[in-house]
Amino acid sequence: MKAYVLTRYGDSSVMEMREVPEPIAADNEVLIKVQAAALNPVDYKLREGKMRLLNHLDLPTVAGNEFSGIVAGVGDGVTRFAVGDRVFARVDKNKLGAFAPYLVISQTLLAKIPESLDFVAAAGLPLAGLTALQALRDELAVTAGDRIFISGGAGGVGTLAIQLATWMGAEVATTASPQSEEFVRSLGASTVINYREQRFKDVLSEYDGAFDLTGGADLQDSFSILKRGAKTVSIAGFPEPTTARVDLEAGPLLTAALWILSAKIRRQARQKGVGYRYMFMHPSGTDLELLAGLVEEGKLKTVTDRVFPFEQIAEGFSYLEQGHAKGKVVVQM
Ligand SMILES: NC(=O)c1ccc[n+]([C@@H]2O[C@H](COP(=O)([O-])OP(=O)(O)OC[C@H]3O[C@@H](n4cnc5c(N)ncnc54)[C@H](OP(=O)(O)O)[C@@H]3O)[C@@H](O)[C@H]2O)c1
Repeated sequence: MKAYVLTRYGDSSVMEMREVPEPIAADNEVLIKVQAAALNPVDYKLREGKMRLLNHLDLPTVAGNEFSGIVAGVGDGVTRFAVGDRVFARVDKNKLGAFAPYLVISQTLLAKIPESLDFVAAAGLPLAGLTALQALRDELAVTAGDRIFISGGAGGVGTLAIQLATWMGAEVATTASPQSEEFVRSLGASTVINYREQRFKDVLSEYDGAFDLTGGADLQDSFSILKRGAKTVSIAGFPEPTTARVDLEAGPLLTAALWILSAKIRRQARQKGVGYRYMFMHPSGTDLELLAGLVEEGKLKTVTDRVFPFEQIAEGFSYLEQGHAKGKVVVQM
């Protein structure tokens, strides 16, 4: 089969369509005929080698972090899925494999696609949806009445995070370009700051939590808008010791390295009396079922920006890497 393969670390030229063997489902694994796969910033960060310390891959490897498809076969011990089921998932981080006509995946990472979603819409939900859910529910413990700030509300994660925070009963402020203002309001944001003209730290104060999707100066600014004792959870800043211990289950060496590398940003948070956590999302079939249920109930909608044929995946990445996608960029098999 022809798959999109990461051959070595580097610029976009290191990804190529290559003939690879079709995978075979082992015990507790499911063979999927992929129908669509979504592109994510993590795909090009992995390609550039920026994550190699934290996410080891044996190269060459079929790339791709999330997909939707049809069950084409099951290994021994698979009880929850049968041939013909419509399913989707965020794949195992150390295996990848979504940019291919077929892949195998552990049944624990899979969920059934809600009836109201087609394959293209479904492909864009797992990674961004799980990230937003785990950050808001598990790290920020958002409850009704909270005021939550989400930077970069118009992108793949932001569009889902705004909706989930609103569903949890929070009042949401976000940053967006003027072109995206109406769009993020339609998803539930009640305060929208045009990041091209204004710094949100000059406008917002006494927030109960911040979800940082943009990093850089925004991350540091987020500390200034929080109540004392509140927390910023970032997915675009600096990994820190909890990231190593909890998300990466790493040993003392990496934990110590991240303690040193994150010392400055942790000190800046401490000086403002707030907490800082860098989070890596984790794949989970159970959490994905929860998201699928919200879609089914009409409480969460997916947003697809552009769809490319699989053969034009490189064009899809050129678009995504400009950094202005509204929702998800998807390739269709
Ligand atoms: N740690 C984890 O587990 C994890 C998981 C998922 C994602 N991430 C990271 O989270 C980040 C966001 O991911 P994503 O999938 O949402 O990316 P994305 O879809 O590529 O984000 C694009 C969006 O960002 C907006 N944007 C760009 N610069 C901005 C700024 N300075 N202020 C406000 N908005 C800005 C753009 O809006 P305009 O067009 O309006 O400018 C665009 O809509 C990435 O760095 C990704 O690697 C980490």
